[in-house]
Amino acid sequence: MDSSLSKLKGFREFYPEEMESRRLVFNKMRDTSIRFNFREIDAPSVENFEIFRKKSGDEIINQTFSFLDKAGRHVTLIPEITPVVARMVSNVKNVPMPQKWFSIPKLWRYEEPQSGRLREFYQYNADIFGSSSVYSDSEIIILSQSILNDLGLRNKYTTRISDRYLAENILKSEGIENVDEIFKIIDKMEKVGREKIKEMLSGIAGEDRASRIMEIFSLSGKFDEISGKIEYSERMEYIGRLNDILKDMDCGNYMFDFSIVRGLAYYTGIVFETHDYKREFRAVLGGGRYDRLTEMFGSHIPAVGFGMGDAVLELLMRRENVWPGPKRNLDFFVVIIGNYITEGLRLVKMLRENGFSADYDPDFRSVQKQMKMAEREGARFSLIMGEEELKNNTVTMKDMDSGVQNKIGMDDLIQKLRKYNLPKNHFHS
Ligand code: HAM
Repeated sequence: MDSSLSKLKGFREFYPEEMESRRLVFNKMRDTSIRFNFREIDAPSVENFEIFRKKSGDEIINQTFSFLDKAGRHVTLIPEITPVVARMVSNVKNVPMPQKWFSIPKLWRYEEPQSGRLREFYQYNADIFGSSSVYSDSEIIILSQSILNDLGLRNKYTTRISDRYLAENILKSEGIENVDEIFKIIDKMEKVGREKIKEMLSGIAGEDRASRIMEIFSLSGKFDEISGKIEYSERMEYIGRLNDILKDMDCGNYMFDFSIVRGLAYYTGIVFETHDYKREFRAVLGGGRYDRLTEMFGSHIPAVGFGMGDAVLELLMRRENVWPGPKRNLDFFVVIIGNYITEGLRLVKMLRENGFSADYDPDFRSVQKQMKMAEREGARFSLIMGEEELKNNTVTMKDMDSGVQNKIGMDDLIQKLRKYNLPKNHFHS
């Protein structure tokens, strides 16, 4: 095939089986979010480049799929949704706070494609707007863990928590003004290793300060293990309260790790990242508090949230054997024999209108072939309609699992079929 016709690198196609599995995963995320009283939103996929340039930070900016549109505007496919959601919440007048929103947009980042890193991916997002409470920080962290637990990943991950506010104050007390530059370096700790980081820090802050900075940003462990080693006590009290809530709520899989600073520029408080417990993959999710992002839209709405891409999540779920297999939802396959097409189609229509899923062979091939198709389509039952059935006002129902066949009278057919307890809502199952 002409290579200009092939799929672009870092993009995915989803065949029905893959889409079914993904739908199950996304709907689990939706269910958990709704149990936490979050409400779903959606937003445009193309935005003014400016909305990201201001606050997202260089890393994301260098990865945008941006272009000039026909009117000469500099626009971009969205690399993240957070600034867009911040604009949405800023634009609603008199909205009661807090607002708890979630979304599952597609995002685009021009990264070097590799395992868990793509140029187009889905990213679940959840954010709480309008509350500065430490209980909103904990709610977001607990939600992120509950989603992973509900997806079958309990105890398969570790959440690492840090604090941008504390880190910023420590750096300022060391006389460092350009804290963002230091954060950018620290953020690379995993990638380039400690030695290289120390060298880079020394270049900016001198060797002594670089050693002290390294010491603090290398602290990690349980709260009690690190709290004594940090002086900035008022803020440590805040982090201690967060720790108490997470402990009281039996969140087992978390620790504090000051090497987490997060690549995005807008975070102002607690930040966190969750990795699989073997640390085989990059972060499955990341987030934090960003109290000043809405200032760009003329409002002052505190916020905290996180984003979780589908790519790393899938790698992790597959490794742990909890990625759902494809699931078909065909309740009935109507096998239509002879000249009874209209009657057969009426039956299909009636089933569909009554909430069942139903299908038939549009080529009306032999009974044997129609039965094969019923099997292939994963039908729970097939309903056979032919001359004899019509004469007796019945339909023959075959249980596709057991092979058992029954004749059922057409009167009150729907009522009778309801007894089989087929799933009521095909959208969710
Ligand atoms: P982020 O750390 O840039 O944060 O992305 C969060 C997650 O999205 C990552 O942990 C990863 O699972 C996934 N992700 C990021 N880039 C890629 C990629 N190229 N391919 C596949 N997956 C990827 C944010 O985006 C923030 N806006 C999250 C947030 C929401 N903070 C507050 N609210």
